Amino acid sequence: MSSQIAHAKKNLFENGFLDMEVDPTMDLVEAIQALKKEKNMVILAHYYQESEVQDVADYIGDSLQLSQKAAKTDADIIVFAGVHFMAETAKMLNPNKKVILPDLKAGCSLADSCPPSLFSKFKEKYPDHVVISYINCTAELKTLTDICCTSSNAEVIVNSVPEEKGIIFAPDKNLGAYLIKKTGRDMVLWNGACMVHEIFSAEKITKLKVRHPNALFIAHPECEEHILKMADFIGSTSQLLNFTKSSEATSFIVGTEAGIIHQMELASPDKEFIAAPPDSNCACNECPYMKLNTMEKLYLCMKYELPEIILEDWIIEQGRKSIDRMLEISAKAGFKA
Ligand code: 13P
Ligand code: SF4
Repeated sequence: MSSQIAHAKKNLFENGFLDMEVDPTMDLVEAIQALKKEKNMVILAHYYQESEVQDVADYIGDSLQLSQKAAKTDADIIVFAGVHFMAETAKMLNPNKKVILPDLKAGCSLADSCPPSLFSKFKEKYPDHVVISYINCTAELKTLTDICCTSSNAEVIVNSVPEEKGIIFAPDKNLGAYLIKKTGRDMVLWNGACMVHEIFSAEKITKLKVRHPNALFIAHPECEEHILKMADFIGSTSQLLNFTKSSEATSFIVGTEAGIIHQMELASPDKEFIAAPPDSNCACNECPYMKLNTMEKLYLCMKYELPEIILEDWIIEQGRKSIDRMLEISAKAGFKA
C-alpha cells in the first residue's frame, strides 16, 4: 500500500488527483464524515457538483456564497468541491489554512479564456478604466483586477463604480453584455465565454416550451443574448434556485448547468424541472470540469490532504484586494451566505 501511495503522490501533478484504488465496499459517505470530524475539515460545494458530493457537503452555494463562507470558516482545512478558481479564492482568503481540491484539473473554460499576459496588454489600452473581473478567473488575473464580482452581485458591483469612470469587464462577454443592458454602463468587454452556457439551443427550448406551455424558462446570465431574450427569469444559481422556490409556477426549463436541479428538486419535490437542451445530443449542459470531482477523489483528497492549492505570496497579497473589495460591497448591499 505504501508504494501505491508514493506512486500516486509522485504522479499527482500529471494526473491532477491521487490515482489510487478505493475499496469498492467502503461506505464513502461514512468515511468522509469521519475524516471531516477527525481533521476539523469543512466541505464547501458548488451547486454544479454531482448530487452525491452535494449531499456530503457542509455548505452548498453559488460562487459568492462559497467565498463568503470561506472567508468566515474556523475549520482547519477547507475541502473545495468545486473548480480550481474557487479553491484559489478560498486560499487567498485563508493564506494560513490548507485548501484542498479533489482534482486539480477541475478548471474552467472562462478562466482559461483570459490569460493574464494577454489581459495585461489589453488593459494597457485603457489606463484610466476600473477593472471588474468575474470571479471565474485565475488568481493571477485577480492581481490585475480592481474589483471581483460574481453573477449574484455583478450589477451592484458595476453600479458601485463612479459614473464618470470607464470599466473593463472580464472575462465573460455574455455576462458583460447582459450587465451593459441592465446598468446602462458602456463597458469594454474581454472576449471570453463559458463552454457550458454557450451550448443551449433556442430551437429546442422553443419546442420544449410548446410541449410544456406552463413551464417558465429560467437562465443564468452566462448564456448568450438570444437565449437570455427567451427567459422568464435570469439570475445566478442561487437566484434561480430561490426563484423556483417562491414562484407559483410548477414547471421550469432550467438554462444553466444541470447540477443545480438536485437542490431545486429537494426544495420543491412537487415541481417539475427540465434541463434546457444543448445544441447537439451530448450532455454538454454538464460542466466537464465540475464533474471531475467524484466521491472517491473527495475521500482520497481528505485522507491524504492532497492535492493542495499553493499560491505565491505576491499573488495572494495583490489578488486578495479585489476579492475583499467585492465582499465589502456585497456585505453593504446585504448579500448573505
Ligand atoms: P454562480 O455560482 O455565480 O451562479 O456561477 C455559476 C458558475 O458558472 C460557476 O462556475
Ligand atoms: Fe467554468 Fe462554465 Fe464550468 Fe462554471 S460551468 S466552472 S463557468 S466552465
